[in-house]
Amino acid sequence: AAATRYEAENATISQGTVAANHTGYSGTGFVDYTNVTGSYTQFTIDAATAGSTDLTIRYANGTTTNRPMDVAVNGSVVSAGKAFNGTGSWDTWTSTTLPVDLAAGSNTVRLTATTSNGGPNLDYVDASAGAVTGPGAM
Ligand code: GCU
Repeated sequence: AAATRYEAENATISQGTVAANHTGYSGTGFVDYTNVTGSYTQFTIDAATAGSTDLTIRYANGTTTNRPMDVAVNGSVVSAGKAFNGTGSWDTWTSTTLPVDLAAGSNTVRLTATTSNGGPNLDYVDASAGAVTGPGAM
């Protein structure tokens, strides 16, 4: 489906690094969250009009332990401790989708680890077409 892709390696990263030491990622790499509570990746998503948008978050978690993250839009948590369960290996990526309400104009979407394990490895966020504008919008 048409969507705008926001690569994690191009986002704002706090307590994480861009890595490429596993296979199967999109773009030039992925975000390896530091294994601490509060590590985050923040995306800026521009919307032409206010409205609901589906965010599809692609990640890998090579452990068998959930790596939950808070999903915040414009500073408000809209999904607390959203689950990012094990994917079988660090080379195996899966996606999870949630609808969020965006404001017209520039929005922040921040994915913050809520446990000392940090987040999963984060590949990208896709925002569904419609409200979203910017490079790659269709
Ligand atoms: C391993 C893996 C990393 C991952 C890390 C983690 O080191 O290679 O990609 O981020 O585990 O536990 O977070």
